Amino acid sequence: MIGDRLEEARDRIEQVRAEALHAINEAQTTHQVETLRVEYTGKRSALNQVMQEVMPALELEGRKRLGADVNAAKQDIEHALMSRRDELGALELEQRLEAERIDVTLPGTDYPRGYSHPLLQSVREILTILEQMGFAVYEGYEVEWETYNFDMLNVPKYHPARDAQDTFYITNEMLLRTQTSPAQIRLMQSHDPPVRFAVPGWCYRNEAEDATHGDRFFQIEGLVVESDITMADLKGTLTEVAHRYFGADRRVRFRASYFPFTEPSAELDIECIICRGAGCRSCGGEGWLELGGSGMVHPKVLRAGGYDPDRYSGFAFGIGPDRYAMQKYGINDLRLFREDDLRFLRQFN
Ligand code: DAH
Repeated sequence: MIGDRLEEARDRIEQVRAEALHAINEAQTTHQVETLRVEYTGKRSALNQVMQEVMPALELEGRKRLGADVNAAKQDIEHALMSRRDELGALELEQRLEAERIDVTLPGTDYPRGYSHPLLQSVREILTILEQMGFAVYEGYEVEWETYNFDMLNVPKYHPARDAQDTFYITNEMLLRTQTSPAQIRLMQSHDPPVRFAVPGWCYRNEAEDATHGDRFFQIEGLVVESDITMADLKGTLTEVAHRYFGADRRVRFRASYFPFTEPSAELDIECIICRGAGCRSCGGEGWLELGGSGMVHPKVLRAGGYDPDRYSGFAFGIGPDRYAMQKYGINDLRLFREDDLRFLRQFN
């Protein structure tokens, strides 16, 4: 009886072993191998069941034989599991490496880098030069009181200069500034002399647009007030700014002019980059091109700012950074700065 049970158990063990080895051989993934490992070597495996069922009924000799058989079968199965797992593992790694292959020699994604607009570049360049010469940079208001934009700058109502600077009125007393000059008054009212200010900003005018005029344009205002400022300071300062911006070989000239807020007044010109003053088509035969206005601050303006004209004198200027850029790079139309045409803008990268 006992011998029969032992024989039966040994058959069963052999059967499980064969079945396990076959299944392991058939496994296609390491995951399947793992499932088989649990099934055939775990606590509740068929081999353990055979042991638990048959062992108690056997003699010592029979137990030894059964134990040895089960262990041999287990070892075979474990060995098969291990080698199949390694085999499939290597295969899977290879497949993954192939699937996730990265070609490090492929060119990367090109992200275009931005850069500032040529007008802004010019503004920054001019402001940097002014700062190096001791100017502090401030901003005024684009929406201004009429009185700051005109009256305090010695342009009373009905003054003909208002015609040339018509603009958009927000109310009867409030407008879009036609110039950065009102900032002169505001800065004098809030600072004691001596002062040296630069004020960049947008200005607005009711203007028929052409190659050198826009209804919205950028201006940089300058104001210097100290005790003994003369026209020589004005000329020296603006000439130096021009030389640093354009190069020392570009000639500038001061042309007598008129502004209500300065006396005397002067227009600042730069020699044409194309003909160097001789006159050509690009400069309309003039040889010179306008960069901005300037002059000695009018006593009435100093007084409006709260300064005593008997103690202090000063000069002021209002220049167009777009005109500076045009004369530096040979651009013939101001409108190019506003059209956002990348073919134009990319040249200033
Ligand atoms: N504000 C004047 C304009 O827009 C330019 C100007 C001229 C400004 C003379 C000044 C100056 O400060 O002194 O035409």
